[in-house]
Amino acid sequence: MTETYHTLYTESVKNPNVFWKNQAKRLSWFKSFTKVKETSFTPGQVSIKWFQDGELNACYNCVDRHIEDKGDQVAILFEGDEEGFQESLTYTELHEKVCRFANGLKSVNVKKGDTVVIYLPMMMEGAIAMLACARIGAVHSVVFGGFSGESLASRIQDCGAKVLITCDTAKRGGKNIPFKETIEKALSISGTECIEHVIMLSKNDGDSTYISMNTLMEKSSPDCPCEVMNAEDPLFILYTSGSTGKPKGVLHTTGGYLLYAALTHEYVFDYQPGDVHFCTADIGWITGHSYVVYGPLCNGATTVMFEGIPGYPDYGRLWRIIDKYQVNIFYTAPTAIRTLRSQGDYFVKSSSRKSLRVLGTVGEPIDHTAWQWYFDIVGDGRCYVADTWWQTETGGHLLTPIAKLKTPLEPGSVTTPFFGIQAALVDNDGHEIKGAGSGNLVLLDSWPGQARTLFKDHSRFEETYFSIFPGKYFSGDGATRDEKGFYTITGRVDDVLNVSGHRLGTNELESAITEHAYIAEAAVVGFPHEIKGQGIYAYVVAYDQSHATDHIKQEIIQHVRKLIGPIATIDKLQFTDSLPKTRSGKVMRRILRKIAENQLDSIGDTSTLSDPNVVERIIQGRL
Ligand code: WT7
Repeated sequence: MTETYHTLYTESVKNPNVFWKNQAKRLSWFKSFTKVKETSFTPGQVSIKWFQDGELNACYNCVDRHIEDKGDQVAILFEGDEEGFQESLTYTELHEKVCRFANGLKSVNVKKGDTVVIYLPMMMEGAIAMLACARIGAVHSVVFGGFSGESLASRIQDCGAKVLITCDTAKRGGKNIPFKETIEKALSISGTECIEHVIMLSKNDGDSTYISMNTLMEKSSPDCPCEVMNAEDPLFILYTSGSTGKPKGVLHTTGGYLLYAALTHEYVFDYQPGDVHFCTADIGWITGHSYVVYGPLCNGATTVMFEGIPGYPDYGRLWRIIDKYQVNIFYTAPTAIRTLRSQGDYFVKSSSRKSLRVLGTVGEPIDHTAWQWYFDIVGDGRCYVADTWWQTETGGHLLTPIAKLKTPLEPGSVTTPFFGIQAALVDNDGHEIKGAGSGNLVLLDSWPGQARTLFKDHSRFEETYFSIFPGKYFSGDGATRDEKGFYTITGRVDDVLNVSGHRLGTNELESAITEHAYIAEAAVVGFPHEIKGQGIYAYVVAYDQSHATDHIKQEIIQHVRKLIGPIATIDKLQFTDSLPKTRSGKVMRRILRKIAENQLDSIGDTSTLSDPNVVERIIQGRL
C-alpha cells in the first residue's frame, strides 16, 4: 500500500473534521462553514449533516468559477449518435446557456425548493437543465430516458414535480426513439397533474401544447445570479429500485455531495488539468450525475457526452471517440466491456488509444477475464484500471483503487476504501468479521457524499439502510476481504437484481407480471448471463393451466417492458403450476435461484416445503 494513501486514509478516519475541512477548500463557498461532520447512524435518530452552516451554489462551482481562467476551454464535448455529428460548449458558452435556461425556468415560476423532472436522452441540454436547476435552487430529478411512461409517471407523482423538461424525439443506434409518446402516456396517468409546464426540446417548435426549450432560452436574459444555497439544501433526487415495489427517491444535498464527487473524480481517476474525461453512463443514473456532470465540471475538466451506443455504427465506435477527442480517462460498465470483448480485438486494435491513462469500471462485479482484457487490450497494459464500487446512495466511489496514489491493483477486486470510508463485513447476526472472510458489506460511519434521506420518507430510509444491522449503513451487497484487506464484491444479497448494471427489484418485476389478468403469482430471480451479468428468470403461475401458452408468455414479457422499460426484459419465463413455499407461505427464492443457475446439486433441503414435489416439477420444466 502506498504510504501517501495510508497517511491520508488514516487522517481521514481519525480526524474527519480536520480532513474534510481541508478538502472542502476545493469548493468555492459564499459563506464558509464552522461545523463539519454532524452525523448519526443510530436507529430512530439517523441524521446526516455536513458543513451545515456553509453556503454555496453547485452551478457556481461547476461553471462560473472556471470562466476567468478557462472560459475558452471546452466544458462539454457532445458526440452524436450519427458518427460525424459533434458539438461543443466552452465554459463561457455553457455559462450563457445555463443562465438563459435558469431564467427561463424562473419565468415559468420555478422557485428555490421546487422539484423539476428531467426526462432527456444523452444531450448537452440534459447537463444544462441540471445546472440551471442547481443555479436557482430547484431540485432536479432526472429520469432515465429508457424508462416507460408508467415509470416516469410514478416518479413525477412521488416528487410532485412542477415542470417536466423533455424532448420530442431522440436517436440511439440509428433508431428514432419517440419521447413525446412516452411523455404523453405519462401525463395521461392520474397523479401527474402536478406538472404545470412541459418544456420541450424540439426541432419543430410549432406545437403550442409545450413550451419550446429553444425559444425559452432565446428570449431569456443571459444574466442570472446564483441562488445562495445552504450546504444541506437538496441538490437532486434520483430514483432507484429497492426490494419492494415503489422506487426510492434518494436525496442528495449540495455541499457534501459536490465535494465528494469532485474529490473522488480527481483522486480515483487521477484527473489532471486539461484532461478529457469520457464516462459512458447516461445522466439518468448516478454515474452520469457524479462523473459526467458534477465531478468533472466542478474540477474544470472537459467532459464527453455520447448520445449513442457502443455498437453503432460498429463496435469500434468508442475507440474512435477516444482517439478523436484524445480522451485521457475512460469510464464504463462491465456489461459494455463484455459486449465489446465478445467482438474480438480487431476493433480495439484498429485504434491508437495512446491518450488513455486511466480506465474505470462500475456497476457490477467484473470477472477476471473481462478485467484482464480491459487492462491488456484496451489499456495496452499501461493504463491504470479502477474498479469502483459505489451506489446511488453513496454519491461517489467508496471502495476503489486510487489512480492518483497508484494504490495496488488486483483483477476482479475493488481493493481498498476511499478516504473517510470505514467499510466492514458482518455476518447475518450483525457480528463483525475481522481479517479475511466474507459477509454483508456495511459502512460504519458517514462520508460527505452520502444520501441524506429518501424523499419525504425518512422512516423508509432508516428502515432500509440502518435497521438491518442497527447503527451501520447496510449496502445490500455481499463481499469478501482477503488478508491484504482488499475487497471483492460478490453481488446483492437482497431481492434486487443487477441487470447490465441496472438495479431492478424482484418485487417490482413480480407486481408487473401479476398485473396480467390470467396470472395468479410470480417469483423472479437472477441467473448468470454472459453479457448482462445477471439475466431475469421468472417463474409464473397462471390461474388456469390452459393459459400457460407462448402467446401469454409474450404478452407478459411485453407488458413488463412497457410498464418498467426495456431494461426489464424477461430473459426466461417458465410457467409452473405452483411455487415452492414454506408452510407459512413464504416463497423459497433460494431454491428457485439454484434452479435458474442450474445448480441442481446444491438445492439443499426441501423437506420444509408445504409441497416438496413442486421442486421436481419445476426442474422438469427448466428453461
Ligand atoms: C449496486 C449499486 C454506482 C453506480 C452504478 C450503479 C453494484 C456497483 C460495482 C462494482 C461490483 C458493483 C452493487 C451496488 N455495483 N459498482 N464495481 N463491483 N458491484 O448504481 O444502481 O445504485 O447500483 O451496483 O451491487 O450495490 P446503483
